[in-house]
Amino acid sequence: MITLYKNPSQIVTVNTNGQNYKRGSEANNIGVITDHSLLVEDEKISEIIPNDALTKSKFDKEIDLTGKIVLPGIVECHTHLVFAGSRSDEFKKKLSGISYEEIAKAGGGINTTVQAVRNSGFEELVELAEPKIKHFISQGVTTLEIKSGYGLSYYDEVKLLQVINFLNNNCKIDIVPTFLGAHTFPPEYINDKNKYIDILSKELLPYIAENNLAKACDGFCETTAFSANQIDDIFSVAEKLNFDIKLHTEQFNSIGGLETALNHKAKSVDHLEVLKNDNIKSLANSNTVGVLLPGVSYFLQYGYAPARELLDNNAIVALATDYNPGSSHIMNISLIMSLAAFNMKMTIEEIISAYTINAAKALNLQNKIGSIEQNKNADFSIYNTTQYSDIIYNTGTNLNCMTVKNGEVIYDTTK
Ligand code: NIG
Ligand code: FE
Repeated sequence: MITLYKNPSQIVTVNTNGQNYKRGSEANNIGVITDHSLLVEDEKISEIIPNDALTKSKFDKEIDLTGKIVLPGIVECHTHLVFAGSRSDEFKKKLSGISYEEIAKAGGGINTTVQAVRNSGFEELVELAEPKIKHFISQGVTTLEIKSGYGLSYYDEVKLLQVINFLNNNCKIDIVPTFLGAHTFPPEYINDKNKYIDILSKELLPYIAENNLAKACDGFCETTAFSANQIDDIFSVAEKLNFDIKLHTEQFNSIGGLETALNHKAKSVDHLEVLKNDNIKSLANSNTVGVLLPGVSYFLQYGYAPARELLDNNAIVALATDYNPGSSHIMNISLIMSLAAFNMKMTIEEIISAYTINAAKALNLQNKIGSIEQNKNADFSIYNTTQYSDIIYNTGTNLNCMTVKNGEVIYDTTK
């Protein structure tokens, strides 16, 4: 089946000439093409053809995109979307001046959600997640990462990963599961942390690897969670089992997480709100993607990650919502993009590269998705406007009108 996506005002290809990521200033070149149409053969992008040569091409179906623009499908590379319960009481406390860290130290925060998840069954978690995934699809998301990390026991972490894998098999987009057993210490092991690390390393990681329940192993290196040495031990096991490595780090305190993640050749390091100058340089000199989460800085009202310094030093930068019940209860991608523009001084082009090809690299999927290039998966998002800057100019508003996954239109409001 060959489909022609005809005559969009712009095709924002985010072309990388096969490199499949954009480092530093490369992110400003997003390969905008006008007066062309897009040919899709089955699940793959086959050609971008000039409109005046259209009569020569053969196709089975035509979709008119006059007055619209095409971007690569949005890759949402960092979420904690599967959870139960609400943290609105803690939200009210935060509004009255009690900090996220204080709430965590008092046994709340992540562990509040852990209790709710442990009390919820498989079906309930699936039902809570499905409408949220649809909401992401309606914003042009074609690949969505979801972390475990609210179970924090053998049984409940496996349950969460099974839910995430079920969602992957039953949703129209790709859901990428990440194991985040090292999110924080659950209450029952707070006085026997080594025992919990043993459960992670000797029981959970081997089981997850054997049953193919996650491709990446994540952790949280922070004074309220895991030390750099503890993360190092867990990552050493994960590496031997061929997991991709990722780390929540430098969120509130810089305690050696960044160095540990780079030593393990992490695919991404996420947060980085308190990244030190020396670490900016070492991250920029690596192949690890810095995933910035401006929704967290906005939601918790503290400093933003040094996006400008990272980009100016030639780092590979991605963006994500970090959608979760505690630190970023935000699913609005246009808002995240605007926060990156206003508060992290990223250019519109850098933001688009960050949310497509570089987010794909953070998930180690950059060879298949993230740009509109020949033979890549036909994943794209179509917007009801004639220029890409409008996506960010319309702050907080969803201009996406069609989402295409593997060549299939899975969301469409144009009819
Ligand atoms: O990415 N930093 C740690 N984990 C999550 C927050 C999870 C929560 O508060 O429930 C984050 O911000
Ligand atoms: Fe997170």
